[in-house]
Amino acid sequence: MENSDLTLFAVDDPQDSAEQSELSPAQQAQRRWKELAEEVQEHQFRYYVKDAPSISDAEFDGLFRELEELEEKYPELQAADSPTQLVGGGFTTTFDSVDHLERMLSLEDVFSAEELRAWLERLEENIGQDQEYLTELKIDGAAIALVYENGKLVRAATRGDGRVGEEITYNARTIGDIPAELTPNEKYPIPDLLEVRGEVYYAVDDFAELNAKIIADAEAAGRKPKPFANPRNAAAGSLRLKDPKQVADRPLRMICHGLGRIEGFAPETQWEAYQAMASWGLHVSQHTEKVVGVEAVLERMRYWGKHRTDTEYEMDGLVVKLNNIAEQHDLGATARVPRWAVAYKYPPEEAITTLLDIRVSVGRTGRVTPYADLTPVTVAGSTVSKATLHNQFEVKRKGVLIGDQVVIRKAGEIIPEILGPLVEQRDGSEKEFEFPATCPSCGAPLAPEKESDQDWRCSNARSCPDQLAERLIYLASRAALDIEVLGEKASRELYERELLTNEGDLFNLTKEDLQHTMFFTRAAKTKAEKEEPDAVINGNKRMLGKSGEKLLANLETAKTRPLWRILVALSIRHVGPEAARPLATVFGSLDKIQETALTHPEKLAEVEGVGSTIAESLHDWFREEWHQEIIEKWRAAGVQLEQVEEEQVPHTLEGLTIVATGALENFTRDSVKEAIIARGGRAVGSVSSKTDYVVAGANPGSKLTKAEELEIPVLDEQAFQELMEHGPQEKDS
Ligand code: IVH
Repeated sequence: MENSDLTLFAVDDPQDSAEQSELSPAQQAQRRWKELAEEVQEHQFRYYVKDAPSISDAEFDGLFRELEELEEKYPELQAADSPTQLVGGGFTTTFDSVDHLERMLSLEDVFSAEELRAWLERLEENIGQDQEYLTELKIDGAAIALVYENGKLVRAATRGDGRVGEEITYNARTIGDIPAELTPNEKYPIPDLLEVRGEVYYAVDDFAELNAKIIADAEAAGRKPKPFANPRNAAAGSLRLKDPKQVADRPLRMICHGLGRIEGFAPETQWEAYQAMASWGLHVSQHTEKVVGVEAVLERMRYWGKHRTDTEYEMDGLVVKLNNIAEQHDLGATARVPRWAVAYKYPPEEAITTLLDIRVSVGRTGRVTPYADLTPVTVAGSTVSKATLHNQFEVKRKGVLIGDQVVIRKAGEIIPEILGPLVEQRDGSEKEFEFPATCPSCGAPLAPEKESDQDWRCSNARSCPDQLAERLIYLASRAALDIEVLGEKASRELYERELLTNEGDLFNLTKEDLQHTMFFTRAAKTKAEKEEPDAVINGNKRMLGKSGEKLLANLETAKTRPLWRILVALSIRHVGPEAARPLATVFGSLDKIQETALTHPEKLAEVEGVGSTIAESLHDWFREEWHQEIIEKWRAAGVQLEQVEEEQVPHTLEGLTIVATGALENFTRDSVKEAIIARGGRAVGSVSSKTDYVVAGANPGSKLTKAEELEIPVLDEQAFQELMEHGPQEKDS
């Protein structure tokens, strides 16, 4: 008897149950064998591949024994691919060529608003104004096709060339979003045949973890690691694994975005097709929207342009589809693309460039951070030549070598990051990064402070030029003393010209000192100026410039800044505005804080917002003699080291919980929080139903989306200023 057509999960049985009673015993045995073989394979798959059995071992053994007995009795039933003949179920993905039931088309791309508008207008000229469209996100993943027969998944295949794909059924069966069986329901009965298309993707967050694991595993096995360049490659590469058990370990996801051949179901619209698919347990996008007319489509295009990074997957465009399926059929397709859909592609946020070198920079607390030096490349509209690598373990995790071609990504306003290397482009000349043993700025040895620390530090806090400059920059920032003209260039010059030994000398800077810098001076212009006995640099007469005057004025103002800001300005590790404010309030003077830090640090830890790590850090800081010298120099220069009543601002935000997100023009992240707290409000980091207002600047990200979902009032910067000034206005009653 012909029985070698057993394909897992497929029952190709033309006889219906009414005929069953007329079957011969041998035919009945064959029928039972098929049922059993399928069931056994299903359980083997759950057990061996998915590691999620749904029946007990004893129950499984019962089924298996029944199958064996049947095959003993009817030896002709025993096929080579019978579960009784395969060890561990024999689940290996074979990538056999399979014909798609309908051709898998691609999409026509447009790259500008004008092109998109022209495309839509041409369509509407053809078939009438104000059509109904679906706008969908274009997911950057790997396209696959699923075939369901009578609700059962019988085949999954990659896109291939659109006509012929590769069979990957076992691999697809491990993906949680892909049901083995569709869920029937009253509204949408299960069609006899359903070919579903969609995108398998890797969530951005899961991707970093995957590469880290690939590298760790390779190292443990003494192999060269082959991390993926980006989430799309990770998705496609995972589908190409032979062992479905390995695929099961990868958190692949799938979103369906179309239908191929269907029998027994005729949706009228694309929207209805998605609703039906969702009702059967398939995953469709939550971001698809139904809109009418050209302008509404363009509005969605602009909206998603601002929210590109709000989704858990990478998206590279907006797909626009004519909703009406009869119209879709009328319009048809070219050899390659449908005439009823188009993809607007956003400017790429990813680019490939060369990793020229990995260097390290030294921060204000001595932390040494590796960063990538890249061949400059344009990503998302700006030129990128550097990307942070966080720490040496991150370099390992990413698996990048110096000289590699790397994929970099710049999402919104976030600092560019390296996603991964293009391993296949290596020629053997690439070199591994070695973390330096000594500080690139001062030559002091580098080491982690504690064995468990990921970060390495330069221990020469007192005179490492980079640390000094970074501390000065921080001291001048809005979070601390808010000295406008003291940036990177100015700070470095003050040290290079030996006008400062450390920040202790800052408030003693004089006009004469500044005249010896390039940054704070200008060339003498008039005759009178040239005759004045001012400084001469490189043979040129220099006069104190505007920035010099400004610095001197700013320093005067800075001397009377509130105590908490002085404390922040000292760059004591972990002591930012959140800890400095309560410390200043509770202890009232720097001397008192110092005394407590040295004698009873545990008392500091009791202060709300402080805790033991900060207390310990304060204790360690005040113990250093040269730190004491800084304080003494500041005191001598007239810096106020006591708490004075802060200028009272009216508590206009009393009782309000406010979240600020995105880049604001007149505030930094810290100063906006301060402004809220100073007015009696609560500044919190995440949006919830308890949030009263969200202040949104440029590139606000997911917090804005959340606010919109929860219908929380969103303020722009101007509205926020008004709120601070007047408090919430009574609603018109
Ligand atoms: S519809 C007949 N919708 O983009 C229409 N495709 O560049 C065929 N893609 O091969 C595709 N997200 O793999 C459609 N929401 C979406 C999509 C999407 C991603 C992929 C798909 C297609 C490719 C075309």
